[in-house]
Amino acid sequence: MAFTFFFRDLPVLEYAVQETIKLAMGRMRIKVWDAGSALGQEPYTLAILFAECLGATFNNLFIDTTDYDSENNFGDIVKQATYKYDELKRIPVDIFKKYFESQGKDTFRVCDKVRSRVFFQYHDLLSLRPIGSDYALIVCKNVLLHFQCHERIEVLKMYHKALSSGGVLALENTQKIPDTISHLFEQVVPDAQLYRKL
Ligand SMILES: C[S@@+](CC[C@H](N)C(=O)[O-])C[C@H]1O[C@@H](n2cnc3c(N)ncnc32)[C@H](O)[C@@H]1O
Repeated sequence: MAFTFFFRDLPVLEYAVQETIKLAMGRMRIKVWDAGSALGQEPYTLAILFAECLGATFNNLFIDTTDYDSENNFGDIVKQATYKYDELKRIPVDIFKKYFESQGKDTFRVCDKVRSRVFFQYHDLLSLRPIGSDYALIVCKNVLLHFQCHERIEVLKMYHKALSSGGVLALENTQKIPDTISHLFEQVVPDAQLYRKL
């Protein structure tokens, strides 16, 4: 259930980052929520993509990252941010060299700069209580498929509430906004499940 990897579905994440920067540039805080983030590969990928674009304003970025799996200590694993080289070898070499530090024994840690912008907390999406508000971007990929149709709709309504005006929602390619709530979001680009709050 926690299958994930670095730079998964890169084109959608790149689109999402570009749209978010267009929306949130000039704000004191660029707030992002990565919901169902598993072991950290996705939020750290997002943080790296933002780091590549934001320059000096990177410290305005706050990525709240959540998962409900406390049994397997996901929180500790995300905060530790240490991964085996096998998991990292598909990352472009220049990015790998820039953002990962060797810990010896084929193990690498995400660098301090990137780690410092990612904040993990345990959260069950089906509680339907948002962890905050005014998010410029919410990423929820490969999670909603585990829910029943009515649960999916309620979670998407929660995201709508938690987004700032014009905020962006990124889903996996097979996930569409159900017709009953299509008035809440508009699709940003035809070739990705990337939506803007209406
Ligand atoms: C397949 S992983 C997806 C990881 C990442 N988003 C990606 O696309 O690569 C699904 C994650 O959703 C989490 N998840 C499932 N149900 C959840 C719930 N009710 N609340 C929060 N997280 C949940 C699981 O623990 C798992 O880590």
